[in-house]
Amino acid sequence: MAGAVKGRVCVTGAGGFVGSWMVKLLLSKDYTVHGTVRDPGDEKYNHLNKLEKASDNLKLFKADLLDYNSLLAAITGCDGVFHVASPVPSSNVPNPEVELIEPTVKGTLNVLRACCEANIKRVVIVSSGAAVIMNPKWPKGQVKDETCWSDKDYCKETNNWYYFSKTEAESVAWEFAKKNGLDLIVVCPTLILGPLLQSSINASSLVLVKLLKEGHEKVENKVWTMVDVRDVAEALLVVYEKSEAEGRYICTAHMIMTQDSVETLKRIYPTYNYPKGFTEGNEGDELSSEKLQKLGWNCKAVEETLVDSVESYKQAGILK
Ligand SMILES: NC(=O)c1ccc[n+]([C@@H]2O[C@H](COP(=O)([O-])OP(=O)(O)OC[C@H]3O[C@@H](n4cnc5c(N)ncnc54)[C@H](OP(=O)(O)O)[C@@H]3O)[C@@H](O)[C@H]2O)c1
Repeated sequence: MAGAVKGRVCVTGAGGFVGSWMVKLLLSKDYTVHGTVRDPGDEKYNHLNKLEKASDNLKLFKADLLDYNSLLAAITGCDGVFHVASPVPSSNVPNPEVELIEPTVKGTLNVLRACCEANIKRVVIVSSGAAVIMNPKWPKGQVKDETCWSDKDYCKETNNWYYFSKTEAESVAWEFAKKNGLDLIVVCPTLILGPLLQSSINASSLVLVKLLKEGHEKVENKVWTMVDVRDVAEALLVVYEKSEAEGRYICTAHMIMTQDSVETLKRIYPTYNYPKGFTEGNEGDELSSEKLQKLGWNCKAVEETLVDSVESYKQAGILK
């Protein structure tokens, strides 16, 4: 790494679930932060301005991933960039090309082009476990590590457009970085849960909220390969700050069955409208975060993530 020092950094998608925690962490470590949001006047970003040290060290920029100049304005003057923004839908989208693929892939390239133009020292991109796991050719039973890539054709054939968008964006990012000598690190988190800072619910948190609210007769007892949002922010900072960091990093903490999550929560919050029964679900993909752990990254206990999530939904009025 050319030597990113504490200083000024840009976070794209600063108002989202992960982006907000990233901004909070960076401010707490005395970074000056340029945060991009699509509509700075919207009250959904009020939480950002209330963060400790925000009044002195946070500046919000209006930027869209498809508007190169808006990104360049936010990135100029920074030492490093955390590219967090991309659409994360909670259900199938009618037009994946426009709603997902274009902002994710072209948006990533726009961010990287702006990083080159602004002489950014290190860029950290939030990719996803979605760019790792969807690989039918991976040997059955073998733990998936950073060498495993989702198969883009398979994602397309199976209409997994979010998986496709993240895989394509990450692969074009690596191509671009190599060609242009950009210091790029990629973090691939699995399902992210944990407390919300923003007032509206995001797609991954909805997975847990639904389990507490909808009272279905039966739900599939799937494996959740999950990680706490606060630990994701820590991972992004670790790979930014450690000069020896390189390549991609899987960021995951726990494999827990849906039924076990429900049992854990029921003991603490007995009255929510939990599913009444379970059907047998898939075995899930075993992923390794060993590479990230070797950089000194640690993760919270699963109960802490679940309980802090529920407490934050209560505080936001999403749950009683
Ligand atoms: N949550 C998970 O389980 C999970 C797991 C693995 C990876 N990830 C990755 O983590 C990142 C953050 O996700 P999240 O869970 O924090 O989702 P989120 O809360 O929905 O945040 C997504 C952010 O992307 C921004 N965005 C979307 N389209 C944009 C566009 N065209 N131009 C500018 N900004 C745009 C949104 O901005 P606005 O505020 O303007 O709407 C929002 O801030 C994403 O890259 C996602 O793929 C998430």
